[in-house]
Amino acid sequence: MEQFAGTVSDLANKLAEILAEDLGHKSDYFKENCLANTCYLRMNRYPPCPMFPNSNVFGLMPHTDSDFLTILYQDDVGGLQLVRDGQWFAVKPNPDALIVNIGDLFQAWSNGVYKSVEHRVVTNPRVERFSSAYFLCPFHDTVIKSCGQPPVYRNFSFREYRQQVQDDVQKLGQKVGLPRFLL
Ligand code: OGA
Ligand code: NI
Repeated sequence: MEQFAGTVSDLANKLAEILAEDLGHKSDYFKENCLANTCYLRMNRYPPCPMFPNSNVFGLMPHTDSDFLTILYQDDVGGLQLVRDGQWFAVKPNPDALIVNIGDLFQAWSNGVYKSVEHRVVTNPRVERFSSAYFLCPFHDTVIKSCGQPPVYRNFSFREYRQQVQDDVQKLGQKVGLPRFLL
């Protein structure tokens, strides 16, 4: 796990830098604000679970990630899906590939140029499934500013964002996310 985390952490930082440069920001912002101690690795195990037609039982509910970038490795079972043009698409397992998701913070930072992709995991009735996700996160006090004119989102700290997500999940049963921070 240490080796995996080290490798994907380097990859995440490199990708963030390339994406920032692509936006015209020569930026070491991510390297300065994302040290390994705020990033984390989540190891998911999805036990076999019957598929109920038309039910909303998921391995993981539809959501967007609350970080800059997520690097995901999934095993060969499959079940990850993402939204494109209002439709759910399966992300086919490929043992030689990692999945890179843009997270909410990158969407805010890029002023909506990059989109935090909504995704979910559907259940598998027979086989258990494993995945590992690395979340590139800033310090809690890092302020996320939209780079663009006019800014779409107000400035907020990562601490504030996480607190808002947690409050919404507790009060409403689901995350609201970035729309809360629109100007
Ligand atoms: C997550 C996630 C997907 C997967 O942990 O946020 O979206 O395939 N995981 O386990
Ligand atoms: Ni996710």
